[in-house]
Amino acid sequence: MKELLVTDIVEQIQQLKKNRNAVILAHNYQLAEVQDIADFTGDSLELARKAANLKEDVVVFCGVHFMAETAAMLSPQKIVLLPDAHAGCPMADMATGDDVRALKQKHPNAVVVCYVNSTADVKAVSDVCCTSANAVDIVNRIPENKDIIFVPDKYLGGHVSRMTGRDIILFDGYCPTHAKQLVSHIEAARNLYPGAPVIVHPESRKDVCLAADAALSTGQMCAYAKNSDAQTIIVGTEVGLLHRLRKENPEKTFVPLLEQAICMNMKKITLEKILWSLEELEPRITVPDDIASQANAAVLAMLGDGPIGVNP
Ligand code: 13P
Ligand code: SF4
Repeated sequence: MKELLVTDIVEQIQQLKKNRNAVILAHNYQLAEVQDIADFTGDSLELARKAANLKEDVVVFCGVHFMAETAAMLSPQKIVLLPDAHAGCPMADMATGDDVRALKQKHPNAVVVCYVNSTADVKAVSDVCCTSANAVDIVNRIPENKDIIFVPDKYLGGHVSRMTGRDIILFDGYCPTHAKQLVSHIEAARNLYPGAPVIVHPESRKDVCLAADAALSTGQMCAYAKNSDAQTIIVGTEVGLLHRLRKENPEKTFVPLLEQAICMNMKKITLEKILWSLEELEPRITVPDDIASQANAAVLAMLGDGPIGVNP
C-alpha cells in the first residue's frame, strides 16, 4: 500500500515537473527518495554551477536555504522553490553581515572569503565565496600580501590554512552535524575495519581531519570512492551521502563514521513537500536586488578564475 502511494507521488511529481517546465536539484545529503527523483544530485559547487546554467523556468531546490538563495541570485529570472522554507543551515546563521563588517574594520588589508554556507547578507560584504570543493584553490588565488578573513566555518577555514600554509583569520562558526564526529569514532572504525580508508568532510573538527586519510567535499568523496581500490571505506560526513555512494559503487562497502551524523534540516525535504511545492509554486526564494547584486559578485568571483582581492 505504502509502495503504491510513493509510486503515485513520484508520477505526479514527474507530470507536474513537465507541466511547469521545472528541474529538480538535490544536494548529496537529501533523503534517498529525494535524490532518486532529482534531475541532478551534487555537492554545493556542482549545484551552484548547475544553477547558473539552467534552461527550465522553475527550479525545485532540494537542499537548505542558502543553496536555494544562491541559485536565486545566479538565475534571477527563474522561480526558485525550496519545498520547506524552514530548511536552514545552523552554521550559515551563526554569522551576520555586521559580524563581517566588524572583522573588516579590524583587518582593513584583508580579503574576505565566505563559505557558500552563509546568508546573502554575509556574501554581500565578502570579496569571494567558496565551497569545500574549491576553498583551497580560492585562497591560492589571493595575493600573498593580503590578509585573509574566512567566515563562518572555523574548521573548514583551519583546514584551508593547513593546506595552503596561509595564516587565516577565522570566525567562530561550525557545523553542528559534523562537529559530532570525534577521533574516538575514527579509532573505533579503524579497529573494526582494519585497513579501510577513513574520509571525512573538512567541516569536521581539526583533530578528526588530521586523524583521517583525507578531508574531502561530498563530490570529492564520490570521486574518491569510484577511484579507490579499497573494498570498504569509512565515510565521515552527513549520512545521506551513503545512498549515492552505494548506488554508484554497488560492489563496495561504505560504513558511516557516525550513524548519528544527520542534518535534520536537509531531511526536512520530502516527496510530499516537493509535490506540494510544484502544485503551489511556493515557497519561493528571492533575494532583495541591492543585496543580490553584491552577494552575486562574490559568487561570480568564485566561479571565475582570475586573481582575487587585486584592485583593477
Ligand atoms: P559539500 O556538498 O559542498 O561538500 O557541502 C557540505 C555541506 O555541508 C552542505 O551543507
Ligand atoms: Fe549546515 Fe551542517 Fe547541515 Fe550542511 S550539514 S546544511 S553545514 S548544518
